[in-house]
Amino acid sequence: MAKGIARIAVVVCSNRKPRANPQIANFVLETIESTFQDRWDLTPELKVIDLGEKNLPFFDEPGVPSQIHDYTKYAHEHTRAWSQEVQSYDAFIFVTPQYNWGYPAVLKNAIDYLYNEWKGKAAMIVSYGGHGGGRAGVQLRQVLCGVHMVPTKKPVELAFPNRKILLEAATGKDLGLDGFSDKGVWSGATRKQIAETFAEMMDILCSNKLKKGLKSAAVTFGFAKEEIRRKFKKSSVDHSNGTEESKRE
Ligand SMILES: Cc1cc2nc3c(=O)[nH]c(=O)nc-3n(C[C@H](O)[C@H](O)[C@H](O)COP(=O)(O)O)c2cc1C
Repeated sequence: MAKGIARIAVVVCSNRKPRANPQIANFVLETIESTFQDRWDLTPELKVIDLGEKNLPFFDEPGVPSQIHDYTKYAHEHTRAWSQEVQSYDAFIFVTPQYNWGYPAVLKNAIDYLYNEWKGKAAMIVSYGGHGGGRAGVQLRQVLCGVHMVPTKKPVELAFPNRKILLEAATGKDLGLDGFSDKGVWSGATRKQIAETFAEMMDILCSNKLKKGLKSAAVTFGFAKEEIRRKFKKSSVDHSNGTEESKRE
């Protein structure tokens, strides 16, 4: 039987110019492609979303996104377009720098625009920085749980080997990253870590309970039937973030 496709976005989460993020996102994508083991019911199809190219204004919707179940009800065309784009993906790999111990404002802004479009979808966080950007990753994980995504337990943290390389990265200099071999700044151990975390995300994505929710969300957002809503609610109770839909903080 032909396998289904899982559409997965690799999100470039910074918008400075020049910047390191696009080449690191590309490294992550290449690493996944070159280490992928074909053992799931779904075949992943990876595409890059660059928040630096989206030019979303600071969040300006009059409504509260969690209360909006039909994308045509958003006030602004840029929100409707962003909603449709996010709806079209089953999972998200956020590749983010650490800025002052947090993650970039452009990413928080892009998340806050929507709610039901994120809900129930698998996620993986790849942070980078002088020490791997782990503090940004922890903050982002909490926010993803807030919109009821299902992030992997294991993060990926990419540490620049030294200050010189960190500063070169910040000017957009080509770091010679190579996702297809163990040469380059980040070695075999890092590529293995990316492959393992991606495998964890594929497990989340393919788990039966979630799969039902995902299909429902992707197909019916904006036209939600009561039955599908009920199923979706059930599947969102015992995800790894341990929260219930009704308990938003
Ligand atoms: C505003 C700002 C804050 C930063 N804060 C941190 C930090 O907290 N920890 C760290 O390791 N690197 C920090 N850096 C260095 C970044 O890791 C490095 O500049 C990287 O290239 C940023 O990603 P980008 O080029 O895609 O924006 C910071 C850089 C900027 C521009």
